[in-house]
Amino acid sequence: MSDTAILEIKGEKHEFPLIVGTENEIGIDIKTLRGATLGVTTIDPGYKNTGSCQSGITFLDGEKGILRYRGYAIEDLADKADFLEVAYLLIFGDLPSKDQLIKFHADIKTESVVDDDVKKILDAFPKSAHPMGVLSSLTSALTAFNPTSVNVDSEEDMYKSVVKILGKFPVLVAWTMRKKKGLPLNYGSNSLNYVENVLKMMFEKPNEEYVQNPILVNALDKLLILHADHEQNCSTSTVRIVGSSHAGLFASLSAGISALWGPLHGGANQAVLEMLEAIKDDGGDTKKYMGKAKDKQDPFRLMGFGHRVYKNFDPRAKIIKVAADEVLSDLGVEDPILDIAKGLEKEALQDEYFVKRKLYPNVDFYSGIIYRAMGIPTEMFTVMFALGRLPGWIAQWREMRLRKEPIGRPRQIYTGENYRAFKTIDKR
Ligand code: SDX
Repeated sequence: MSDTAILEIKGEKHEFPLIVGTENEIGIDIKTLRGATLGVTTIDPGYKNTGSCQSGITFLDGEKGILRYRGYAIEDLADKADFLEVAYLLIFGDLPSKDQLIKFHADIKTESVVDDDVKKILDAFPKSAHPMGVLSSLTSALTAFNPTSVNVDSEEDMYKSVVKILGKFPVLVAWTMRKKKGLPLNYGSNSLNYVENVLKMMFEKPNEEYVQNPILVNALDKLLILHADHEQNCSTSTVRIVGSSHAGLFASLSAGISALWGPLHGGANQAVLEMLEAIKDDGGDTKKYMGKAKDKQDPFRLMGFGHRVYKNFDPRAKIIKVAADEVLSDLGVEDPILDIAKGLEKEALQDEYFVKRKLYPNVDFYSGIIYRAMGIPTEMFTVMFALGRLPGWIAQWREMRLRKEPIGRPRQIYTGENYRAFKTIDKR
C-alpha cells in the first residue's frame, strides 16, 4: 500500500503523507495543503471525516463496538477497576501501583476544600437554574481562587492543577444538587474513597449520619468509569480547542461542561428520561414516538439512540443495560420506565428506518434509569456525566499541552457578498 495520498486539483497532482495509527487507522496529513495549492482547503461540517489530532488515550471502533482506555477494554475496566484507578490511567497512561494510587488520592484529598466565597456565587443563582449552567460557572470561577492553576507549562504545575480540580469538582457537583434541594452545603470525609465521598456529599442529610449503600457505590463507580473518556467527542474537542489558546485548565473544563449540556450530547441522558416519561404518560404508546422520530417534518429524535461514531451497539450501553437490571432489583425498585425503554429498544432494533441508519442505543439510553433509581434528580443526570468525563477531559487537555499542539483555528469557505462600495445613509 502506498504511504501517500495523491490529490489532483485543476490538473495539478499533489502528494500528501499517510499517518497510520497503532490500530491501523489511516489519516491523510494535509498540513501542507493550503501552501502547496495556493489556498485550497477542505470542508467537513461536524468534522465527520476529519481528525483533529493524534492521541494515545482512547481508542474506539464504531463499526465493531470497541472502546479501550490506554489499551484496556472498557468491559475489563468497568468490571475490575475503580473510578480513581481509571482516572489515573487516562491522565498518566498506566494503571497505578498501590503506592501511586494512595499518593494520588492523598494529593486529591488535600485539595478537596473549596474557597468559602464560592458559596456566594452559588447563592446568587435561583433554585430554578439548570445544574449544568451552575456547574460550568462555578468551575470557571475556581480560576479566580486558584490563579496558579492557569500558566502550567511544567508537568509538576500541571499535576497540581489536576489534583486541585479532581478534589474540588465533586464538591461543586454536590453543592449544585444541594442548592437545588435547599440543603445546607457540606463536605465529605477524607476517610472515604472517592465515590463514597461523592455520595455522602450529595445525599447526606443535616440531621442524620449518612450510611453508605454498597449497591449505590458500585453502580456510580461503574457509571463514572463508563463515561470517563470517549476520544474527540464534542465536549472533549471543546476542552482541547479552548486549552489550545493556553487558557487555564478550569476555564477549558468550564467550556467542555457547556458543550456537554446540549441534548444532542451529554444532555441526552436527561432528554431520554423526559422522553420515556412522556411515553409513559401517553399510555406507553412507543409506536407514536417511533413515528415522530422518523418523521422528517418533526424535529423529535429518539433520544439515547444513534451516535456519530458507533454504527453498532455502544459497548457502554450494553454494560449499563445489564447494570440497570441489577441495580433496580438490588434496590427493590420496580420502574415501568425500564420496561418502556426495553420495549422501545426492541422495536427500534427491528425497524427498517433505524436498522438502515445503524441507529443503536448509546451510553445515554439506560444511564438515566440507574441515576433515577439512585435518587438523583433528572436535571442532575448530565452533571453526573460531567463528573465521569472529568478525567478524560483532563487527560486530553494535558496531552494537547504536553505535545505543544498549535492553537486551534479552522479555516472556512466564504460564501457572502463580493466587494461593494460603501453607501451613505441617504443613498440606501
Ligand atoms: C453522546 O461523540 C461522542 O462520543 C458522544 C458520546 C460521548 O461519550 O462523548 O458518546 C456521548 O453524546 C451520545 C449521543 C447522545 N445523543 C443522543 O442520544 C441524541 C439523539 N441522537 C442524535 O441526535 C444523533 O444520533 C447524534 C447527534 C448522536 C449523531 O448524529 P449524526 O452523527 O450527526 O448523525 P445524523 O444526524 O447525520 O443522522 C444520520 C441519519 C439522519 O437521517 P437521514 O438524514 O439520513 O434521513 O440518522 C437520523 C438522522 O435524522 N438519526 C436519527 C437519530 N439519530 C440520527 N433519527 C431519529 N432519532 C435519532 N436519535
